[in-house]
Amino acid sequence: FSSFLTDGFGRRHSYLRISLTERCNLRCQYCMPEEGVTLTPRAQLLTTQEVLKLARLFVYEGVEKIRLTGGEPLIRPDILDVIAELRKLEGLKSIGVTTNGLNLAKLLPGLKQVGLDLLNVSLDSLVPAKFEFIVRRKGFHKVKEGINKAIEMGYSPLKVNCVVIRGLNEDELVDFVAWTEKNPLEVRFIEYMPFDGNKWNFKKMVSCQEMLDGIRQKWPDLEPLPGGQADTAKIFRVPGFQGRVGFITSMSDHFCGSCNRLRLTADGNLKVCLFGNAEVSLRDSLRSGATDQELLEIIGAAVGRKKKHHAGMFSISQMKNRPMVLIGTASSRP
Ligand code: GTP
Ligand code: 5AD
Ligand code: SF4
Repeated sequence: FSSFLTDGFGRRHSYLRISLTERCNLRCQYCMPEEGVTLTPRAQLLTTQEVLKLARLFVYEGVEKIRLTGGEPLIRPDILDVIAELRKLEGLKSIGVTTNGLNLAKLLPGLKQVGLDLLNVSLDSLVPAKFEFIVRRKGFHKVKEGINKAIEMGYSPLKVNCVVIRGLNEDELVDFVAWTEKNPLEVRFIEYMPFDGNKWNFKKMVSCQEMLDGIRQKWPDLEPLPGGQADTAKIFRVPGFQGRVGFITSMSDHFCGSCNRLRLTADGNLKVCLFGNAEVSLRDSLRSGATDQELLEIIGAAVGRKKKHHAGMFSISQMKNRPMVLIGTASSRP
């Protein structure tokens, strides 16, 4: 495995998250302010050729999984071409997309055809009016249609991401769990994380333990299942249910020790930690003619500076970071 992708704590970074756009057709409250965010001028965003060139370099060095994120990756006009080109990279074992699901139903046949392996869809409420309040736009039924169709097309287990916010949707956890009874879903409850402009505060965060306690009032036999070493979620199941339930505990119990992720932002910065604000521009190096070796040295130096774990709940809530929509809603770990 490449020394450029191995950090000072021996973590091997075999998972790259690439943000394909800063734009989004929703305005989720936990992700960005109501007025949206200032978008990077087009000339400063990576071109498709630059994305592919960097992806090729990372895969050559040992990246085995690429997840495409945004903003909303499925609004990128050439999304199918990007996936088709990535598919050609020898050594890349899986390609995933994290989407808000709005455009999913209509794009699914194309996605399947170009060989998309993994799909994660965000859905924070099963009540249409509440969904629309959280995302500040319409579209509940389109997202549900996308999820159902994806299951029919064999995306299993399809992961559903639900950011849990006190006073908004924590009363729906049992309904989400009930949804896993007859569907091959992995519903993942995510602890609310602080990012610039998302009005996070400690009181709005519901910890995994509190979620578990609530769910166990209805299903006392909810049982833990073994998970993959570098998974973000701790996985559980109600015995007899077809699907599973996961908890992403970035706040109450970080999983930095097994982190295997790097992120590339749409404007071409390498971000070695979701909660880190040290970024390095690969775009500028590419555009000033850096050779592959020079690029690798820049990447290796950034990976080498990666911290052992994120700075803790209080510090990251005070820290200057990007809003989530500009980091890549499909993320890399702290
Ligand atoms: P898989 O590839 O299926 O494992 O997906 P994932 O869980 O890594 O990514 P997804 O895009 O579905 O993101 C779901 C949630 O995972 C995000 O809301 C984050 O809460 C969390 N997550 C993703 N990447 C990171 C990360 O680098 N650090 C932390 N702390 N959380 C992350
Ligand atoms: N806290 C936790 N999860 C978040 N996401 C976006 N913003 C936040 C936040 N502040 C989630 C989205 C998406 C995933 C990739 O990141 O719901 O599913
Ligand atoms: Fe868009 Fe995703 Fe942010 Fe929601 S979480 S506004 S869907 S980028």
